[in-house]
Amino acid sequence: MDANQSELRPQAVSGKLRLRAVVTFLLVLIFVPCVLSPLTHAATPITFDEKQRLWVLQSGEATYAFGVNERGELQHLYWGKRIRAQDLTSAHSLPEWASFDLSTTTTPQEYPGWGAGLYVEPALKATFANGNRDVVLYYVDQKLEANHLEITLKDEISALFVHLHYRVYPDSGILERSAQIENRTSEEVTLESAQSASWTLPGDGSYRLHYLTGRWAGEWQLQTETLQIGKRVIESRRGSTGNDANPWFAIDETDKTDETHGPVWFGELGWSGSWRFTIERTPSDQYRVTGGFNPFDFGYRLSPGESVETPPFYAGFTDGGLGEASRILHRYQLEQILPGSPHPRIRPVLYNSWEATEFNLDEAGQMALAEKAARLGVERFVVDDGWFGERNNDHAGLGDWYVNSRKFPRGLKPLIDRVHHLGMDFGLWVEPEMVNPGSDLYRRHPDWVMNFPGRPRTEGRNQVVLNLARDDVKEYIFSWLDRLVTENDIGLLKWDYNRNWSEPGWPEAPFADQKKIWVRYVQNLYDIIDRLRSKHPRLEIEGCSGGGARVDLGVLRRVDQVWPSDNTDALDRLTIQYGFTQAYSPHVMMAWVTDVPNGINGRVTPLRFRFLVAMTGSLGVGGNLNKWSDDEIAVASKMISFYKQIRAIVQDGRLVRLVSPMESEFSAMQYVSQDSQQVVVFAFLHSQQFGRSVPLLYLQGLPEDAMYSVSTIDNGSEEHTGKLSGAYLMHHGIQLRLRGDYDATAMKLDRVQ
Ligand code: DGJ
Repeated sequence: MDANQSELRPQAVSGKLRLRAVVTFLLVLIFVPCVLSPLTHAATPITFDEKQRLWVLQSGEATYAFGVNERGELQHLYWGKRIRAQDLTSAHSLPEWASFDLSTTTTPQEYPGWGAGLYVEPALKATFANGNRDVVLYYVDQKLEANHLEITLKDEISALFVHLHYRVYPDSGILERSAQIENRTSEEVTLESAQSASWTLPGDGSYRLHYLTGRWAGEWQLQTETLQIGKRVIESRRGSTGNDANPWFAIDETDKTDETHGPVWFGELGWSGSWRFTIERTPSDQYRVTGGFNPFDFGYRLSPGESVETPPFYAGFTDGGLGEASRILHRYQLEQILPGSPHPRIRPVLYNSWEATEFNLDEAGQMALAEKAARLGVERFVVDDGWFGERNNDHAGLGDWYVNSRKFPRGLKPLIDRVHHLGMDFGLWVEPEMVNPGSDLYRRHPDWVMNFPGRPRTEGRNQVVLNLARDDVKEYIFSWLDRLVTENDIGLLKWDYNRNWSEPGWPEAPFADQKKIWVRYVQNLYDIIDRLRSKHPRLEIEGCSGGGARVDLGVLRRVDQVWPSDNTDALDRLTIQYGFTQAYSPHVMMAWVTDVPNGINGRVTPLRFRFLVAMTGSLGVGGNLNKWSDDEIAVASKMISFYKQIRAIVQDGRLVRLVSPMESEFSAMQYVSQDSQQVVVFAFLHSQQFGRSVPLLYLQGLPEDAMYSVSTIDNGSEEHTGKLSGAYLMHHGIQLRLRGDYDATAMKLDRVQ
């Protein structure tokens, strides 16, 4: 298109009622043939119909389609239950709605630039050197290789290009999208919003949005609300993923969907920095979710020839309810995201001394705990905060990563050797991105923290944030971590991150690049971890951020497990873990058994209850073993040995959330092994009122005629209780004998025929 043509942009035919008529016509074109012809699962995950300029992506249960319309825009066509590629037809723009909603805004674009009368959320917004702020993207070409499709768009006038990447994971049902924005003009272009994707939902439903919110010690709270007209924003402006919301969403149809049935569109972002999802319902009932870098305070200058890549945004569709949406995500994380995928290593049972000792640790004390932990059957012993510098409380030490010689006069080696001798591997806590102003590092390099010159530096937990966007800071952090791991036989680093950003200045960078800190910091963080892991292939990492404030698919590519919350109270954990597993696999969900009264809320729960709650994820122990009685030690050993029998099912199996802890005084979950031969069921009575008996528990998804040998676990001892059929377990249900407050049980079912 040349400049003259662009002065008057072509608009589709106008007419108030025509919008609905055309939508209906398109829906008929899409749906009628699919009713008539039976579905066959296409072997090719991505097909391109050159004549119709139409792409159809088939993934799991879902079909996703878009095409080039008569104006040259990339227009979304369909996302939902699987249909045949040949049943879809080419894209045609939708008409305007009177003179106020132009066709550019009524037509759902795959990746809309802000220009030409676009009033919905743009995927891209830019300012050019000549003052132009109008971006209108048209299709240029495509590259299709098996499961990967690259579509190139270009601004109608300038040489600003966008490369849209689509990756289909046909078995898991996940579709991955990202965008690379490339400046091929001869001048600078500054991006003010660069989103990964815009996902359009079918228009006609009444939708509910599910999302996760939280705060320290209260993470992973599942929220549900009906989507109203307007824009609903969930985001982090904190510099990292944050826990006031997590970059995950699920949208389902009111009255049609529950845990086990009905349509769900869901997605999550692979980015550990500030992010935003805009979930939009227009007054014409168009629904879309746009997500990527948070545009707040965003400014990314692209010099001529420079490009930037947005984070990957993963999404899927299922007709199997919210439970199936979670299982698709869990499987995808195990097979594609986690280090070691498609077979990430089963998580060892760990002991962590933080709640037992806090900063008050030394070699003798750690050795004594290690002896006891080994006797319980623990496989990994982790020394937490306090082993380095002058770290006797949270006022000092961060930045000075040498072993504290008063606490460990012989260095860490004797302790590590002892831990190994006891048959465990060794883990160590670090918080590489932070510095206490009371440290040698800060005294040497006060300019290494993010700051605005001449303005105060806000402290959180007495610490400030190193500016990892600086390459010298990045290299420094890499080099001391590399040295630490080279000099000590460390199996796991617990990588903590205990505050959010403030004064996010990068004064050393050219003025126009200073806001790149939002992106560069995270890229450099990833670079440090990637290099460390590639140099030390046996090293594992636990991601932690004062609990669960940095969990997303970006960090999960680089860490083997995460710490969901500092709240280890077993009752609270049921809700926290229920929310966590909506979005992330139990494989990565560390859960410790700690002491009572619980430090967060003073609640006292029985050891069996605490163990069984922790065994629904990756088990750890965090109590002060010096204070555990012989009886408690005996119960703990049996529980740990039982957990080792079932952990592959819990960590890598299919999780069915049978009864939500948010809905009643009773909750339960079921895990089915990958080969469907074994099932584990956990049930929890939180607090019994009026002597009410626990409702019958109905299992789900078992073959009707399969027979299972059932064992019940009581205080760790396994008791065989007979054989039951799949049909009985699902339709008759099991009567559990739980009583009083904080009672719990677990059952193991082995298929015998
Ligand atoms: C916050 C973490 O979540 C805790 O587990 C512990 O490691 C402390 N930091 C140590 O400072």
